[in-house]
Parts: sequence; structure tokens; C-alpha cells
Amino acid sequence: MDGLKDAALLETRAFIGGEWRETGETLVVEDPGRAEPLAEVASADSEHATEAIDAAEAALPEWQATTADQRCAILHELDRLMGEHQEDLARILTREHGKPLDQSRGEIRYAASFVKWFAEEGRRSYGDTIPSANPDQRLVVFRQGVGITAGITPWNFPCAMITRKLAPALAAGCTFALKPAQSTPLSALALAVLCERAGVPKGVVSVIPGSSARAISEPWLEDGRVRKLSFTGSTEIGKKLAEGSAGTLKRLSLELGGNAPFLVFDDADIDEAVDGLMVAKFRNAGQSCVAANRVLVQRSVHDEFVEKLRARIEADVHPGYGLDEGSTLGPLIDEAAVSKVQRLLGQATDAGAEIVLGGDVHEAGPRFFAPTVVTDVTPKMTISSEEIFGPVVSVMTFDDESEAIRMANDTPFGLASYFYARDLGRVWRVSEGLEYGMVGVNTGLVSNAAAPFGGIKESGQGREGSRYGLEDWTELKYVAMGGVARKS
Ligand code: SIN
Repeated sequence: MDGLKDAALLETRAFIGGEWRETGETLVVEDPGRAEPLAEVASADSEHATEAIDAAEAALPEWQATTADQRCAILHELDRLMGEHQEDLARILTREHGKPLDQSRGEIRYAASFVKWFAEEGRRSYGDTIPSANPDQRLVVFRQGVGITAGITPWNFPCAMITRKLAPALAAGCTFALKPAQSTPLSALALAVLCERAGVPKGVVSVIPGSSARAISEPWLEDGRVRKLSFTGSTEIGKKLAEGSAGTLKRLSLELGGNAPFLVFDDADIDEAVDGLMVAKFRNAGQSCVAANRVLVQRSVHDEFVEKLRARIEADVHPGYGLDEGSTLGPLIDEAAVSKVQRLLGQATDAGAEIVLGGDVHEAGPRFFAPTVVTDVTPKMTISSEEIFGPVVSVMTFDDESEAIRMANDTPFGLASYFYARDLGRVWRVSEGLEYGMVGVNTGLVSNAAAPFGGIKESGQGREGSRYGLEDWTELKYVAMGGVARKS
């Protein structure tokens, strides 16, 4: 790959127990912007998955014995290295994912923000003392890392979705084995290079790319030594992991699919609502589980909103190759993603929806989808129930607040939601009424290392980021200390 200042960051071997290893098999990583092969990476199998857990087990006692301060220092060093190598990390990310270089730089900063946050938060993993009814006892509660853990991460944020798991795992004193997405392993391996340089001891972190998620996840699910599995991906796979982990009753963190509503009420500042939607929809070309999937606009402001949005998209959204100057919208990850968006739009227009902008593949290349606005959408259309995962704004109308809340909640998913309104009473009522783990009020971005990211209903369980995210990597231990009362 051209243009890297530090070529050693481009690793293609698996990282198991502190050793860089060929595995005998390879997988091909593509450049989705050019729709052509980019690199061959070692592809691990179930034996490598178990070796990573053996190494995590061997490394655990010493790692658990480190102080929170020592782990904090290593994480701060990792954060520093991510800053130092931001440009190379962003370039690798853009080549394997496609997003414009500036957005990749943003993702590296976002990824590093988790490392920095959890470096500090690990030092604040406080416990409690509980007043005892028994004068002979004192009751103490403290937190300990859950032990050996594993993560499976998606391709849409190839770096940030890893650090959101890896950093709290390390801060809590856990060892961690990672299976990155098959299509974006290079960012994960570059991160492993930096973990090694930051002083993470051998075996504490392993990164094993693989072409078969099942070959790697099954041994982890069945292995009683693995006490926690953290997964970001589809609801369908999340349910399979829940079934597969039942035999060992593992702790599961599941960040799954969403169907985020974005509501615009008649008292909203329409220009600000357009600003918010540009972020909530076009960040990462709409390939995010918190992307606005259904835009619900109050009938009286619908035409103004759609017209302003169309003008804004035409001015600001420029599909293009990620390394080219001026590109602001990257490609979709693969052909299947393009076909899915075409199918959803086709079904919507067949049922009466109207395309007011875009509507098909863009001339920038076969994986680029033109920024699209489709109106007259109804809740019954599949575009309202499936995740679009593309740069398509799907617009519906509502007449009043209760209808808006009912429509917004009419989904099995409950990850992110957004709304624009100014009336204070309405802001509270709608915030309380939305059945979602996250609500953005007058903002199109809820993601933040300090905040609890996660969903309810079929969008998953557990939280990432924030102090709640650290708690998810710990167990609560209660100690009853007897023999305190004076005996004489
Ligand atoms: C995701 O799409 O899975 C996460 C996006 C984010 O962290 O903002």
C-alpha cells in the first residue's frame, strides 16, 4: 500500500499470543472504492481461536495483578500512538473500507477517544461498603474484571468498534481475543501492532482474522474459560450467539441492528433539523446501526424540510474515491449492499413512494450509491422495517405527537432515535415516550466515549462507552467480613 509513513503498520499476519503468525490460509481484502483486491491476510480457523484463548488464559494472572494505574499508563500510550500514527491508520481504513480520508481521520480520533476514556475510567472502578445488620460483620462490595473475554466486530467502523471493546476490557484487567470483520482486518491488525508497541503483554490481546466467523466463534462460545463475548453486528447473528453461549452462560454484550426514527416536529428549527439529518444519515454513507432509517416529518413542515434537505444534499454530498480530494461520500461495502438498497427502493416505488433525488448507483463506481431522497413512504413498505444501510433518506409524514411516537416505536428495534422540537414539554414527553436506548434531541449524533451506547428490544443488551460500559467488563463481588465484634 502506497503512502504509509510507517509501513510496519500494514500487517497481514494473525496476532496470536503475542506472536505474528501465518495460518496456512488467506483471505482477500478488497478496496471497495475501486472494487478490486487490496491485500491477502492470514485466515485463522478454530484451532487458532482456541490458541488465542490458551494464550489469554496464560496471560491472565499477571495481567489481573497489575494495578489500575499500570493499565492506565499502557492505554494512555496506546492513545498517544494512535494520535502519532493517525494519518497511516486513516489511510489503511480508507483503503479497506472506502470512507473518505477525512472521515477515516475522524474515526481514528473517535476510536482513540475510547482508549483515553477507559484509561482514566479504569482508575475509578469504585466499590461500596454496606451498613450491616450484624454487629460482627462488615459488608464490602468491589468489582473485578470478568477474566478471559472475546470480541467480534463489524466492518462499518473498523477501528472504533474495536477500541470500544478492547479499551474497557484492558482497563478492567481482562484478556481479550478479537475476530475482526472479514472485509476490514487491516485496521484491526494495525491496532494490534500499536498494542504491542504500547506495552500490552503477550497473550493479553490476540487478533485473529478469518473468513469463517463460525469457525472462530464456535470454539469461543463452547469454551467455559471465555467469560464474556461482546458482539457488534446484525440481530440475526446476535440471536445465534445468544443461543450458542447458553451452554456456558457467558456474559453477552450485543450491539445489534437498529431502525432509527428521526422526527421533525412543527416547532423544530428546520435548518437545524436538516443539519442533524445530514450527520444522522450520511455519516459513513448511512452504513451505521444508528443511522436515521425512517424520517418522520410533521405534515405542515414536510415540503419545506424536504426542499431544504434536497438543496443541502446537492451542495454537500459528493460521492467519490476515499483518497480523492473533495469526496464526501464513500462506497457501500460490497455488491450485496448495493443490491439491497436497490431492492428496498424498488419495492417502495412500486408501492407508491416517490424519488425526489438520486435513486440508483452513482457514476463514481459500481459500489457508490447516489445520495437519495424518497418521499411518500408508508410504514408498511419494507424500507420502513429493514435497515437501509445506505445513503437513502426515507421520508414519511405524521399529523400529531402521539401518532409520531406510535410510528417511531412500531419496530422490534430500539437502538437510537432522534427528534427535533423546541417546546420544552414536548421534548420531555417525546424523550420519555421513545422506546430506544438512545435519544438525540436536536442533534444528529449521539455517539460519544463518555456516554452509554446501546439498545433495548431486539437491538441488543449491555452498554459500551461510559462508566456503564466499564461495568459490563466486570463482576460485582461481595465480601462479608466476620469476627469484627469485641469478644470480651
Ligand atoms: C455502529 O454503527 O455500530 C456504531 C456507530 C457509532 O458508534 O456511532
